Amino acid sequence: MITLAGNIIKRIRTEGPAKTFRLMKARSRALVCALMEDQRRGVSTSRIVKDQEPEIADPHCHYYAATDYETFHLAMQHLEINPAKEVFVDFGSGKGRIVILAAELPLRRVIGVEFSRHLHLAGLENLAVARSQFKCADVELIHADATQWELPGDATLLFFFNPFDGAVLAKVCENIRRSIAESPRTVRIIYVRPDKFFEKEIAWQEWLTKKVELACVEGKVAIYESK
Ligand SMILES: C[S@@+](CC[C@H](N)C(=O)[O-])C[C@H]1O[C@@H](n2cnc3c(N)ncnc32)[C@H](O)[C@@H]1O
Repeated sequence: MITLAGNIIKRIRTEGPAKTFRLMKARSRALVCALMEDQRRGVSTSRIVKDQEPEIADPHCHYYAATDYETFHLAMQHLEINPAKEVFVDFGSGKGRIVILAAELPLRRVIGVEFSRHLHLAGLENLAVARSQFKCADVELIHADATQWELPGDATLLFFFNPFDGAVLAKVCENIRRSIAESPRTVRIIYVRPDKFFEKEIAWQEWLTKKVELACVEGKVAIYESK
Protein backbone atom coordinates (compact mmCIF):
# COMPACT_ATOMS: atom_id res chain seq x y z
CA MET A 1 0.00 0.00 0.00
CA ILE A 2 2.88 2.32 0.97
CA THR A 3 4.72 1.45 -2.27
CA LEU A 4 1.55 2.16 -4.27
CA ALA A 5 1.11 5.57 -2.63
CA GLY A 6 4.79 6.32 -3.22
CA ASN A 7 4.50 5.38 -6.90
CA ILE A 8 1.42 7.58 -7.32
CA ILE A 9 3.16 10.56 -5.72
CA LYS A 10 6.23 10.01 -7.92
CA ARG A 11 4.07 9.87 -11.02
CA ILE A 12 2.11 13.02 -10.06
CA ARG A 13 5.45 14.81 -9.74
CA THR A 14 6.75 13.63 -13.13
CA GLU A 15 3.58 13.51 -15.22
CA GLY A 16 1.15 15.83 -13.46
CA PRO A 17 -2.12 15.04 -11.62
CA ALA A 18 -4.44 14.92 -14.67
CA LYS A 19 -2.37 12.33 -16.56
CA THR A 20 -1.82 10.31 -13.37
CA PHE A 21 -5.56 10.27 -12.67
CA ARG A 22 -6.36 9.17 -16.27
CA LEU A 23 -3.77 6.39 -16.03
CA MET A 24 -5.04 5.16 -12.66
CA LYS A 25 -8.60 5.13 -13.99
CA ALA A 26 -7.56 3.15 -17.09
CA ARG A 27 -5.52 0.67 -15.02
CA SER A 28 -8.32 0.13 -12.48
CA ARG A 29 -10.77 -0.46 -15.31
CA ALA A 30 -8.36 -2.90 -16.98
CA LEU A 31 -7.88 -4.79 -13.71
CA VAL A 32 -11.63 -5.19 -13.18
CA CYS A 33 -12.02 -6.39 -16.80
CA ALA A 34 -9.10 -8.81 -16.35
CA LEU A 35 -10.60 -10.32 -13.20
CA MET A 36 -13.91 -10.78 -15.02
CA GLU A 37 -12.21 -12.35 -18.06
CA ASP A 38 -10.19 -14.66 -15.76
CA GLN A 39 -13.35 -15.65 -13.92
CA ARG A 40 -15.21 -16.32 -17.15
CA ARG A 41 -12.50 -18.82 -18.11
CA GLY A 42 -11.99 -20.20 -14.59
CA VAL A 43 -8.30 -19.19 -14.63
CA SER A 44 -6.09 -17.05 -12.43
CA THR A 45 -3.63 -14.90 -14.39
CA SER A 46 -4.02 -11.41 -12.95
CA ARG A 47 -1.91 -11.31 -9.79
CA ILE A 48 1.56 -9.85 -10.23
CA VAL A 49 4.40 -12.13 -9.05
CA LYS A 50 7.63 -10.35 -8.21
CA ASP A 51 9.51 -13.15 -6.44
CA GLN A 52 11.57 -15.21 -8.82
CA GLU A 53 13.01 -18.52 -7.66
CA PRO A 54 16.51 -17.82 -6.24
CA GLU A 55 18.21 -20.06 -8.80
CA ILE A 56 16.93 -17.98 -11.71
CA ALA A 57 17.02 -14.50 -10.15
CA ASP A 58 18.61 -12.30 -12.78
CA PRO A 59 18.16 -8.52 -12.82
CA HIS A 60 17.81 -8.63 -16.62
CA CYS A 61 14.78 -10.95 -16.37
CA HIS A 62 11.60 -9.15 -15.38
CA TYR A 63 8.86 -10.22 -13.02
CA TYR A 64 5.41 -11.50 -13.96
CA ALA A 65 2.65 -9.08 -14.81
CA ALA A 66 0.10 -10.07 -17.41
CA THR A 67 -0.64 -8.16 -20.59
CA ASP A 68 -4.06 -6.59 -20.46
CA TYR A 69 -6.73 -8.61 -22.28
CA GLU A 70 -7.68 -5.57 -24.40
CA THR A 71 -4.07 -4.93 -25.43
CA PHE A 72 -3.78 -8.41 -26.92
CA HIS A 73 -7.00 -8.01 -28.92
CA LEU A 74 -6.03 -4.48 -30.01
CA ALA A 75 -2.72 -5.73 -31.41
CA MET A 76 -4.27 -8.75 -33.11
CA GLN A 77 -6.89 -6.53 -34.80
CA HIS A 78 -4.03 -4.63 -36.46
CA LEU A 79 -2.41 -7.74 -37.89
CA GLU A 80 -3.34 -9.18 -41.24
CA ILE A 81 -2.94 -12.88 -40.70
CA ASN A 82 -3.94 -16.17 -42.16
CA PRO A 83 -4.63 -17.85 -38.80
CA ALA A 84 -4.19 -21.41 -40.04
CA LYS A 85 -0.61 -20.60 -41.09
CA GLU A 86 0.53 -18.79 -37.96
CA VAL A 87 2.73 -20.28 -35.26
CA PHE A 88 2.54 -18.00 -32.21
CA VAL A 89 5.17 -17.81 -29.46
CA ASP A 90 4.87 -15.89 -26.17
CA PHE A 91 8.35 -15.24 -24.78
CA GLY A 92 8.01 -15.31 -20.98
CA SER A 93 4.53 -16.79 -20.89
CA GLY A 94 4.10 -16.61 -17.10
CA LYS A 95 0.69 -17.86 -16.00
CA GLY A 96 -0.39 -18.35 -19.59
CA ARG A 97 -2.86 -15.53 -20.26
CA ILE A 98 -1.49 -14.68 -23.70
CA VAL A 99 -1.10 -18.33 -24.69
CA ILE A 100 -4.75 -18.89 -23.72
CA LEU A 101 -5.93 -15.87 -25.73
CA ALA A 102 -3.86 -16.90 -28.76
CA ALA A 103 -5.19 -20.47 -28.48
CA GLU A 104 -8.75 -19.15 -28.57
CA LEU A 105 -7.97 -18.20 -32.19
CA PRO A 106 -7.76 -20.85 -34.91
CA LEU A 107 -3.95 -20.61 -35.17
CA ARG A 108 -1.77 -23.48 -36.39
CA ARG A 109 0.25 -23.73 -33.19
CA VAL A 110 0.71 -21.75 -29.97
CA ILE A 111 3.77 -22.00 -27.72
CA GLY A 112 4.63 -20.30 -24.42
CA VAL A 113 8.17 -20.28 -23.01
CA GLU A 114 8.65 -19.52 -19.30
CA PHE A 115 11.74 -20.02 -17.13
CA SER A 116 10.12 -19.79 -13.69
CA ARG A 117 9.01 -23.21 -12.52
CA HIS A 118 6.19 -21.97 -10.33
CA LEU A 119 4.83 -19.69 -13.07
CA HIS A 120 5.14 -22.50 -15.63
CA LEU A 121 3.12 -24.79 -13.32
CA ALA A 122 0.51 -22.07 -12.76
CA GLY A 123 0.33 -21.70 -16.56
CA LEU A 124 -0.23 -25.45 -17.01
CA GLU A 125 -3.07 -25.38 -14.47
CA ASN A 126 -4.71 -22.43 -16.22
CA LEU A 127 -4.37 -24.07 -19.62
CA ALA A 128 -5.95 -27.29 -18.39
CA VAL A 129 -9.04 -25.33 -17.31
CA ALA A 130 -9.25 -23.06 -20.37
CA ARG A 131 -8.49 -25.74 -22.98
CA SER A 132 -12.13 -26.58 -23.75
CA GLN A 133 -12.50 -23.11 -25.34
CA PHE A 134 -9.43 -23.41 -27.56
CA LYS A 135 -9.79 -23.20 -31.34
CA CYS A 136 -6.11 -24.14 -31.77
CA ALA A 137 -5.43 -27.86 -31.31
CA ASP A 138 -1.65 -27.61 -30.83
CA VAL A 139 -0.86 -25.62 -27.67
CA GLU A 140 2.24 -26.10 -25.57
CA LEU A 141 3.91 -24.49 -22.56
CA ILE A 142 7.67 -25.02 -22.37
CA HIS A 143 9.67 -24.66 -19.17
CA ALA A 144 12.91 -23.11 -20.46
CA ASP A 145 15.12 -20.08 -20.38
CA ALA A 146 14.27 -18.13 -23.54
CA THR A 147 17.99 -17.62 -24.28
CA GLN A 148 18.54 -21.41 -24.40
CA TRP A 149 15.41 -22.28 -26.33
CA GLU A 150 15.62 -22.69 -30.10
CA LEU A 151 12.90 -20.85 -31.95
CA PRO A 152 11.09 -23.30 -34.30
CA GLY A 153 11.79 -22.55 -37.97
CA ASP A 154 8.05 -22.10 -38.63
CA ALA A 155 7.35 -19.56 -35.84
CA THR A 156 5.76 -16.47 -37.39
CA LEU A 157 4.10 -14.42 -34.63
CA LEU A 158 6.25 -13.56 -31.62
CA PHE A 159 4.83 -11.87 -28.54
CA PHE A 160 6.80 -9.99 -25.89
CA PHE A 161 5.56 -8.08 -22.88
CA ASN A 162 8.84 -6.59 -21.86
CA PRO A 163 10.15 -9.89 -20.39
CA PHE A 164 13.85 -9.05 -20.23
CA ASP A 165 16.55 -6.55 -21.11
CA GLY A 166 20.31 -6.34 -21.52
CA ALA A 167 22.26 -9.43 -22.53
CA VAL A 168 19.16 -11.65 -22.22
CA LEU A 169 17.15 -9.56 -24.69
CA ALA A 170 20.16 -9.30 -27.04
CA LYS A 171 20.65 -13.09 -27.06
CA VAL A 172 16.96 -13.80 -27.72
CA CYS A 173 16.89 -11.24 -30.57
CA GLU A 174 20.04 -12.79 -32.04
CA ASN A 175 18.36 -16.22 -31.91
CA ILE A 176 15.34 -14.80 -33.76
CA ARG A 177 17.56 -13.20 -36.43
CA ARG A 178 19.43 -16.48 -36.89
CA SER A 179 16.19 -18.45 -37.12
CA ILE A 180 14.92 -16.10 -39.88
CA ALA A 181 18.24 -16.39 -41.76
CA GLU A 182 18.18 -20.19 -41.53
CA SER A 183 14.46 -20.56 -42.35
CA PRO A 184 13.53 -17.48 -44.38
CA ARG A 185 9.97 -16.34 -43.65
CA THR A 186 8.05 -13.27 -42.58
CA VAL A 187 8.04 -12.93 -38.82
CA ARG A 188 5.85 -10.44 -36.99
CA ILE A 189 6.72 -9.28 -33.49
CA ILE A 190 4.09 -7.85 -31.15
CA TYR A 191 5.91 -5.94 -28.43
CA VAL A 192 4.20 -4.42 -25.40
CA ARG A 193 6.25 -1.54 -23.92
CA PRO A 194 8.92 -1.60 -26.67
CA ASP A 195 10.04 1.88 -25.61
CA LYS A 196 11.46 0.60 -22.32
CA PHE A 197 14.34 -1.57 -23.56
CA PHE A 198 13.73 -3.10 -26.99
CA GLU A 199 13.88 0.12 -28.99
CA LYS A 200 16.76 1.50 -26.93
CA GLU A 201 18.98 -1.56 -26.74
CA ILE A 202 18.40 -3.47 -29.98
CA ALA A 203 19.38 -2.32 -33.50
CA TRP A 204 15.96 -3.54 -34.62
CA GLN A 205 15.81 -1.19 -37.66
CA GLU A 206 18.46 -3.37 -39.35
CA TRP A 207 16.11 -6.35 -39.56
CA LEU A 208 12.61 -5.13 -38.66
CA THR A 209 10.18 -2.52 -39.94
CA LYS A 210 7.78 -0.98 -37.46
CA LYS A 211 4.28 -1.38 -38.90
CA VAL A 212 2.08 0.00 -36.13
CA GLU A 213 2.39 1.65 -32.77
CA LEU A 214 -0.72 1.90 -30.60
CA ALA A 215 -1.57 3.39 -27.24
CA CYS A 216 -2.68 0.82 -24.66
CA VAL A 217 -3.08 0.58 -20.92
CA GLU A 218 0.55 -0.53 -20.49
CA GLY A 219 1.67 2.53 -22.51
CA LYS A 220 2.45 1.34 -26.03
CA VAL A 221 2.20 -1.79 -28.09
CA ALA A 222 4.05 -1.99 -31.40
CA ILE A 223 4.04 -4.44 -34.28
CA TYR A 224 7.23 -5.08 -36.27
CA GLU A 225 7.76 -7.16 -39.38
CA SER A 226 10.97 -8.82 -40.52
CA LYS A 227 12.53 -7.26 -43.65
C1 LIG B 1 5.96 -9.11 -17.94
S1 LIG B 1 5.72 -10.86 -17.78
C2 LIG B 1 4.75 -11.21 -19.24
C3 LIG B 1 3.84 -12.41 -19.08
C4 LIG B 1 3.04 -12.79 -20.34
N1 LIG B 1 3.86 -12.88 -21.50
C5 LIG B 1 1.95 -11.77 -20.61
O1 LIG B 1 2.16 -10.93 -21.46
O2 LIG B 1 0.89 -11.83 -19.96
C6 LIG B 1 7.35 -11.44 -18.22
C7 LIG B 1 7.55 -12.94 -18.04
O3 LIG B 1 8.81 -13.33 -18.60
C8 LIG B 1 9.38 -14.33 -17.78
N2 LIG B 1 10.82 -14.36 -18.07
C9 LIG B 1 11.74 -13.46 -17.70
N3 LIG B 1 12.95 -13.83 -18.14
C10 LIG B 1 12.81 -15.00 -18.81
C11 LIG B 1 13.69 -15.86 -19.51
N4 LIG B 1 15.00 -15.62 -19.59
N5 LIG B 1 13.19 -16.96 -20.10
C12 LIG B 1 11.85 -17.24 -20.03
N6 LIG B 1 10.98 -16.47 -19.36
C13 LIG B 1 11.43 -15.35 -18.77
C14 LIG B 1 9.02 -13.90 -16.37
O4 LIG B 1 9.12 -14.95 -15.44
C15 LIG B 1 7.58 -13.41 -16.58
O5 LIG B 1 6.66 -14.47 -16.43
